[in-house]
Amino acid sequence: MSFSILGTGSALPERVVTNEELSHMVDTSDAWIRTRTGIRERRVCSSETVTELACQAAAKALTDSGCTAAELDLIICATISADYATPSMACILQDKLGAHCPAFDINAACTGFLYALDIAAGYFARKADQKILVVAAEAMSRLIDWQDRSTCVLFGDGAGAAVLGAGDGLLAIRTGAKGSIAPLYAPSSWGNSPFYTGNSAQPYLVMEGQEVFRFAVTSMVQTVEDVLAQTGVRKEELAWVLPHQANIRIIDAALSRLKIGSEKCLTNIADHGNTSAACAAILLDEANRAGKLKKGDLLAMTAFGGGLTTGACILRWDK
Ligand code: UT7
Repeated sequence: MSFSILGTGSALPERVVTNEELSHMVDTSDAWIRTRTGIRERRVCSSETVTELACQAAAKALTDSGCTAAELDLIICATISADYATPSMACILQDKLGAHCPAFDINAACTGFLYALDIAAGYFARKADQKILVVAAEAMSRLIDWQDRSTCVLFGDGAGAAVLGAGDGLLAIRTGAKGSIAPLYAPSSWGNSPFYTGNSAQPYLVMEGQEVFRFAVTSMVQTVEDVLAQTGVRKEELAWVLPHQANIRIIDAALSRLKIGSEKCLTNIADHGNTSAACAAILLDEANRAGKLKKGDLLAMTAFGGGLTTGACILRWDK
């Protein structure tokens, strides 16, 4: 016994930042960003906190699922940009939603939502009759260097959530890691420790774009092929592919190698950019709310990110 998705939700900041606006801040252009990444605009926190976005997404997912917060047995939040180091975002949500269950955060960068689903599957395996809330929420705007054109044009903020209930909608899931700092990192601050003698790095995200690009295409292809092989599902049987929204060229390259037509691929990168762990959850919720997902549809989700981490799953949409 594993889980089926009972409901989804998402939330975005109000503030829209267009490519044109960024071109007045750093040496870039709408044309470069669109053609190299597929991004047109992104949402960025101004007055909202990422916890507020997570709470809104979670509340919508609960409403969509027909469950109450009091019924939840566990809350898992995937984030690398929480408002607090402690308490965890999940513990704050537990309080704000009125739940009474265990709650913790995980860090798997952009693969966080898939890692959280994998962990949830483990909880269902040991005790079937549960309801688990998985939330992925990011304020990437607090991690990036807004003077670095090579990264600040890529990311956005947002949150997505899913309520999981006992079921057999998860057909297979696979997560992986190729641990390495250099390709993508965002250091934590040493604060004002008078004892630390190393370099006190600024907490900005640094990325070797082309190295991550290569890892992204290879790992997405590999993990999707693995979960397809594990389930025996054929590519033609997939209703939708929901890939990580980092760069439309990464998505196109992976689909082409997988020999899956782009008409089966859901994207929202043009409107939201890369919201890290939240990408997959927001994409799922937008497809759900747009009525694109039909009961019985087979979905392939795949992601990659800092760590480097990677993952994929095959889900049957049971709603
Ligand atoms: O969620 C996981 C996180 N990250 C990713 O998945 C990112 C993966 N990597 C990528 O998406 C791409 O590598 C990037 C979008 C980051 C960069 O695209 P690229 O085609 O690999 O460009 P590049 O790094 O080879 O840079 C090409 C040129 C360089 O100029 P020169 O050296 O050719 O003169 C860059 O300095 O483009 C320049 N450049 C820019 N120009 C205008 C880099 N960023 C910008 C920019 N606007 N924003």
